[in-house]
Amino acid sequence: MLSFLSGATRADAMREIDSSVGEPSALDAYRNGAIGGAEFAEPFVALAYLVAGVFFILALRGLSSPATSRTGNRFGMIGMLIAVVTTLVTHDIANIAEILIAIAIGGVIGLVIARRIAMTSMPELVAAFHSLVGLAAVLVGWAAYLNPGAFGLLVGDSIGAVSKVEMGLGIAIGAITFSGSVIAFAKLSGRMSGSPILLPARHVINLGTLAAIIVLTALFAMAGPSETMPLIIALTVLAFLIGFLLIIPIGGADMPVVVSMLNSYSGWAAAAMGFTLGNTAMIITGALVGSSGAILSYIMCRAMNRSFISVIAGGFGADDSGAGGGEAKEQRPYKQGSAADAAFMLEQAEKVIIIPGYGMAVAQAQHALREMADMLEEKGVEVKYAIHPVAGRMPGHMNVLLAEAQVPYENVFELEDINSEFAQADVAFIIGANDVVNPAAKTDKSSPIYGMPVFDVDKAKQVFFIKRSMGGVGYAGVDNDVFYMDQTMMLLSDAKKMVEEIVKALD
Ligand code: TAP
Repeated sequence: MLSFLSGATRADAMREIDSSVGEPSALDAYRNGAIGGAEFAEPFVALAYLVAGVFFILALRGLSSPATSRTGNRFGMIGMLIAVVTTLVTHDIANIAEILIAIAIGGVIGLVIARRIAMTSMPELVAAFHSLVGLAAVLVGWAAYLNPGAFGLLVGDSIGAVSKVEMGLGIAIGAITFSGSVIAFAKLSGRMSGSPILLPARHVINLGTLAAIIVLTALFAMAGPSETMPLIIALTVLAFLIGFLLIIPIGGADMPVVVSMLNSYSGWAAAAMGFTLGNTAMIITGALVGSSGAILSYIMCRAMNRSFISVIAGGFGADDSGAGGGEAKEQRPYKQGSAADAAFMLEQAEKVIIIPGYGMAVAQAQHALREMADMLEEKGVEVKYAIHPVAGRMPGHMNVLLAEAQVPYENVFELEDINSEFAQADVAFIIGANDVVNPAAKTDKSSPIYGMPVFDVDKAKQVFFIKRSMGGVGYAGVDNDVFYMDQTMMLLSDAKKMVEEIVKALD
């Protein structure tokens, strides 16, 4: 009855057995030894993988909103548990103890890292994890190449051409994901400069290398058994190299897109390996990861008003100091205020819009901020939070922090939903944000952030701008005219300290 799900070889035989009334059932056939254990289990395996796939889809659905993201995560964990257990119990595994030990070691390492990691370091952690997915794909591909019999890939005494294409693609995408993710990790964690490294004629080199990989994959698929080894070695080496070459010219500010793009690649690598291993769960999961990563990359490019091609081509931020570095060049007059000044004006306001950014995450000021907002609301002030899609250092960064501080979801608004409200706001309260409120994105064609949609904070009657010093710049490394506007008061301090002082003054 379930055999239509498996699409596997002996399934047809079982269907006949199942559907013939009065004739032996699949269970009888198994008991009589007419079919083996693996064949008997086939439809159930297919069903279990399908159920796991449904859980993964529910997980993605849950992760689309902060309110349901925990449930989404749990669905993902259940799906993965089903997929792993099904694979373990239905395969002839030589040494299950080794696998369980490996799972336990990996689980402990994952748990320790997850508990210790700071939210601000999340993008580099994700990049590091993607590198492992890429490496796993390369190793599975090589294992399948070296021992095709164990993977059921032999047609006669050689590997089938289609299997070789899947293998070649899996190895190539996996290797690109690995070396690209290692560079992304090094750049995001500051082990390597965030500035783009531009090689002369890099586009020609990159396109040439990609073309060579495609040609090598085709040659590998067509080659006879004795000729394949040099081809697969060349393919692997070139794929490692292109991953490196593709990412080094990309500037720090574009790294989130790169991480999400590598996430997508790791999904496609897993899907390709799913074909090699004949594992439906891997194909489903890989396709889900691949497509969701691609969609996220697209959404982020749109939020930064960058074309995907310009991000991939690299070079963004080459003229400035790049990620987090640099100093504002000229010193212009600005007004500086104190926590007491800010508290006084906030109390008088009818409507306050808070714009959190990376600095709020660094300072961990979200709890104090929530306290401040609660006190203002008690005093009859309307408080809203405005979240830019690329505020912070990873997608959803601000939403996660505000959710952690239990800010009600109904007070949190996306850029396009709230931008028109700044004209009616008494106060725009900028806390650790910078690039996402920089008007140069609207007016200065030479600015590296030109074209990125930004909050119209200049329309608010009063602007408070919390940052630590006038010298510090945002991620794109550019000065911000908002500091020097008539209605702006700079609150120069660590964000948490400043907000705590405002809370005291409001008391
Ligand atoms: P940024 O433009 O990076 O500005 C951060 C601000 O926080 C700076 O003005 C900094 O000034 C201040 N700051 C840092 N630590 C602070 C602290 N402890 N207390 C108070 N202020 C502090 O932040 P943003 O507006 O959120 O913009 C995000 C930028 O990052 C965009 O350019 C975006 O493209 C890029 N990016 C985004 C992502 C994603 S997906 N969200 C990932 C990577 C990069 P001081 O140093 O003077 O304090």
